[in-house]
Amino acid sequence: MRFRIKYHRAFVITGIFTMLVFVFAQCINNTGKKKNTITQNGFEAYVGNEKCAGCHKDIYEQHLKTAHHLTSLPAQEKNINGSFEKGKNRFSYSPFLNIKMEKRDSGFYQVIYFNNEEKMAMRFNITVGSGTMGQSYIEKRGNRYYQMPVTFFTAAHQWSNSPGFPNDKVLTDRPITARCLECHATYAQGEGGTEMEPAGFAADRMILGVGCEKCHGPAAQHVEYHTAHENEKLAKFIVNPASLSRQQQLDVCGLCHSGKIQKTKASFTFTAGKNLSDFFDEKIIIDKAMQSGEVEVHGNQYGLLQASKCFKQSTTLTCNTCHGAHQNERRNMQLFSNRCISCHNTNAESFKTVTHKQVVNISKNCIDCHMPQQESKAISVYLDDRKNPVASLIRSHYIGIYGNKKLTE
Ligand code: HEC
Ligand code: HEC
Ligand code: HEC
Ligand code: HEC
Ligand code: HEC
Ligand code: HEC
Ligand code: HEC
Repeated sequence: MRFRIKYHRAFVITGIFTMLVFVFAQCINNTGKKKNTITQNGFEAYVGNEKCAGCHKDIYEQHLKTAHHLTSLPAQEKNINGSFEKGKNRFSYSPFLNIKMEKRDSGFYQVIYFNNEEKMAMRFNITVGSGTMGQSYIEKRGNRYYQMPVTFFTAAHQWSNSPGFPNDKVLTDRPITARCLECHATYAQGEGGTEMEPAGFAADRMILGVGCEKCHGPAAQHVEYHTAHENEKLAKFIVNPASLSRQQQLDVCGLCHSGKIQKTKASFTFTAGKNLSDFFDEKIIIDKAMQSGEVEVHGNQYGLLQASKCFKQSTTLTCNTCHGAHQNERRNMQLFSNRCISCHNTNAESFKTVTHKQVVNISKNCIDCHMPQQESKAISVYLDDRKNPVASLIRSHYIGIYGNKKLTE
């Protein structure tokens, strides 16, 4: 109620102010465009994270510890989370059919055995997933890429059947799509197939990890310019999300955090600073879908956030209000709660509700009550010798009032 009355009184002033902001924003946009247009967008326009280290050392070093960086890596021993030790290296479909993870001279393999006879050996090429929930793997055959049948499931600390894979036979030919790489890597160049659905990818034109250039746009021009002009203090040819519109800021993250949106243009053509709606059919989550529980929490932070009152009734809230772009802030509930408190005054009379009054240290954890962890329907796996699938828990971004929740602290 209070909010509505306030809006009425301030209506005229807000109107005029909005117009001024609009005019002003146009000016910024125009000058911004001249300085910062990024014209190229092929493999040549990207340089990779290491190039940024020379001039942005601190950010670079922090970024290496983030889930974004770790989300796809070459499948070297130190990057594979599961065990190759005897006794811990097996996933069984039945007493006759199993897969063993084996270290051989030429690399790491998932080896399929039927009646103890080797049927096929698939080589680990790329790891996908930082391992917070789990890690899947990609095999490369020529320029074709396939998702491997066994995934490491972190909660149970063991090898499991890959999510969505059948439980009674081994799939060895599920292709990796451009969209899978678009969400888990910085760049991949398609080969063969169609432009919308390439059949393969060029191994020497792939940039693994969600790197700097995914959120800032391809940066070859930026690096070239600033290397040649060492005294230039004003950034050129680079996108800083902080100076984009609210919608474009959300779009930078929404490319990968909007769940199952349908692409209307080829993968990797969207870059930071563009409008996501020109590249995807966006599905907005409606309140009815929220209430009936048919919404999948996995990967759809943007959709769920949009359905929340915090988002609808504020004009500034974006992902960046709560998330530092370059830091690994995982599990720091105090820090996240402080970000809630930046909008919600815990000393206000209206805040002192029945439930809030019972919480001893309210400023420490708003999260478990208002953004509870929920089971994913998409990420659930079968573990060795278990009949029922086990689901991953994912933090819901529908910020709302739920039934009583237990606090972690
Ligand atoms: C030769 C030095 C140099 C290299 C290499 C370099 N930058 Fe920069 N960058 C600058 C300078 C100078 C600025 C302007 C001052 C500042 O904001 O730090 C800047 C600013 C930025 C900004 C802020 C832009 C703004 O409008 O506020 C971003 C984002 C950025 N760089 C990203 C990158 C990325 C990503 C890479 C690697 C692909 C990179 N830079 C490599 C020199 C460099
Ligand atoms: C290219 C796709 C992509 C873009 C763009 C992207 N993300 Fe992500 N993000 C991912 C993937 C994939 C993961 C899961 C990483 C993992 O654990 O393997 C992730 C994980 C995260 C996490 C969890 C981090 C953790 O410690 O577990 C946060 C928070 C996050 N992203 C926020 C953002 C925000 C905010 C933006 C926009 C500024 C953004 N992301 C842009 C793909 C992306
Ligand atoms: C639309 C973007 C998108 C697509 C497509 C996508 N993912 Fe993800 N994936 C994410 C995001 C975002 C997360 C972070 C967890 C979350 O929000 O559910 C994630 C999480 C994961 C994780 C768990 C990482 C962890 O936290 O430990 C694995 C493994 C994974 N994805 C593998 C894949 C594979 C393999 C494919 C393709 C075959 C794929 N994903 C397709 C966006 C995507
Ligand atoms: C997940 C998306 C994402 C990734 C990955 C990312 N950034 Fe950023 N970066 C942002 C956002 C968002 C901002 C604006 C932060 C804000 O709101 O002030 C930003 C701001 C910056 C700035 C401006 C100064 C500052 O600290 O705000 C620089 C410079 C920069 N990033 C460089 C880099 C470099 C270098 C890398 C890789 C090592 C990188 N970024 C990776 C999203 C990202
Ligand atoms: C940018 C400001 C902003 C931030 C940050 C923010 N909120 Fe909100 N939130 C709002 C506004 C505005 C409303 C609607 C008015 C109200 O109910 O106070 C709201 C409403 C709510 C509601 C009522 C929801 C309902 O359905 O009735 C809850 C609960 C809530 N916020 C919790 C949180 C939590 C927890 C965080 C941190 C994780 C948070 N908010 C961060 C602005 C914000
Ligand atoms: C009001 C605060 C708030 C906003 C806004 C917000 N997040 Fe989060 N997010 C959180 C909190 C709190 C967590 C839990 C962090 C943890 O467990 O370490 C989280 C976790 C995540 C995770 C990891 C999910 C998991 O369970 O593994 C991803 C991915 C993520 N956020 C992405 C986003 C994206 C993308 C946006 C914008 C569309 C966004 N967030 C907006 C507060 C927020
Ligand atoms: C123990 C769980 C719990 C914790 C911790 C908690 N809340 Fe709540 N919150 C609730 C419940 C339940 C309600 C609904 C009113 C009630 O039953 O008291 C509520 C109501 C709200 C509302 C709407 C109340 C209004 O103004 O009409 C907001 C906003 C809110 N909480 C924000 C927060 C923030 C911010 C924090 C952290 C500083 C927080 N809550 C911590 C459980 C919790």
